[in-house]
Amino acid sequence: MNDNDEVKRALVQAADAARFAPSIHNTQPWRWVVTDGRLELFGVAERQLREQDPTGRMLLLSCGTALHHARVALEAEGWRYEVDRPAGEPLAVLRPVERVPVAPEATRHFQMLGVRRTDRRTVTDERVSEDILRDLAKVTEESGARLHVLGRDQVLALAVAVDRAQHAEDGDDRITAETAAWVGGDRPDGTGVPAAVLPEEVPLTTVAERDFQTAGTLTAGDGHDRAATYAVLYGDGDEAEDWLRGGEALSRLWLAATEQAVSLLPLSGPVEIPFTRQTLRRMLGDVGFPYLAVRLGTLDPAHSAPPKTPRLPAEQVIDVL
Ligand SMILES: Cc1cc2nc3c(=O)[nH]c(=O)nc-3n(C[C@H](O)[C@H](O)[C@H](O)COP(=O)(O)O)c2cc1C
Repeated sequence: MNDNDEVKRALVQAADAARFAPSIHNTQPWRWVVTDGRLELFGVAERQLREQDPTGRMLLLSCGTALHHARVALEAEGWRYEVDRPAGEPLAVLRPVERVPVAPEATRHFQMLGVRRTDRRTVTDERVSEDILRDLAKVTEESGARLHVLGRDQVLALAVAVDRAQHAEDGDDRITAETAAWVGGDRPDGTGVPAAVLPEEVPLTTVAERDFQTAGTLTAGDGHDRAATYAVLYGDGDEAEDWLRGGEALSRLWLAATEQAVSLLPLSGPVEIPFTRQTLRRMLGDVGFPYLAVRLGTLDPAHSAPPKTPRLPAEQVIDVL
């Protein structure tokens, strides 16, 4: 195999691994083009939630998680690469530069791509330790964003913001129709959130999780999330490039949490609605821009992982030129 073939193979594998990245309502709003020793990432407008996410904030956060997944795959294959984020389309370009020895943590991160899930069941009464929280904040910072862990009063303020955001979205018929198109049922086309990964009932917790307004089939357990930790992922800017980088940091944070057996549940409602986004911004002391609120917690070891959420086949998201 010559060098070109080797690079091409690595790039196709990286794009393939990125299919498992998390995305808003599992829309997978990305497309990859493998060309001339480069891997290009594009956003896909047809898979944007136009009503819920008109500015594309959630689309770009989702594309950022896919970009980070592809980077993890290249690192696990022993490639040093350059990454460009050209502030337009393509959203990003990955270019392998040379072979390097594979770092042990690169292999571990790669393994986590297949283990990470969104688990919407309640977490146990065991708190995530301060040490682990410090670690998670550190890896987030190394990826160009920051993690603000909420104190008690702020958790109550988050609960109110989540509730108001849910209320605003429930009152918008176009948003509820859009959600219904992406969530519930079996999802045979490989996109969206199937009933199998949603709790039978939205658990009664202080900070509510998103109510998708459709019955799930997953047994939720009877926890209350009293020992859950809530945090806001945020950064210095509020432009498209910042959201892409925010998504990369989210992926890095989520893989690190998974490695520590910490469950991460995104709560994006309060970021989607402008007035609750403002509440989150004030919680940060107006020093940054919120990208996502997250619940962190310890999962019940007696629970097996929830089923996997489907993904689009590689042919639909990867073009090899
Ligand atoms: C930017 C972003 C926002 C999300 N917001 C929510 C949310 O508000 N509530 C929720 O239950 N899941 C949320 N998710 C999780 C997605 O629904 C999940 O990643 C997707 O269904 C794929 O499932 P998986 O994470 O188990 O692979 C979000 C994910 C991303 C990347």
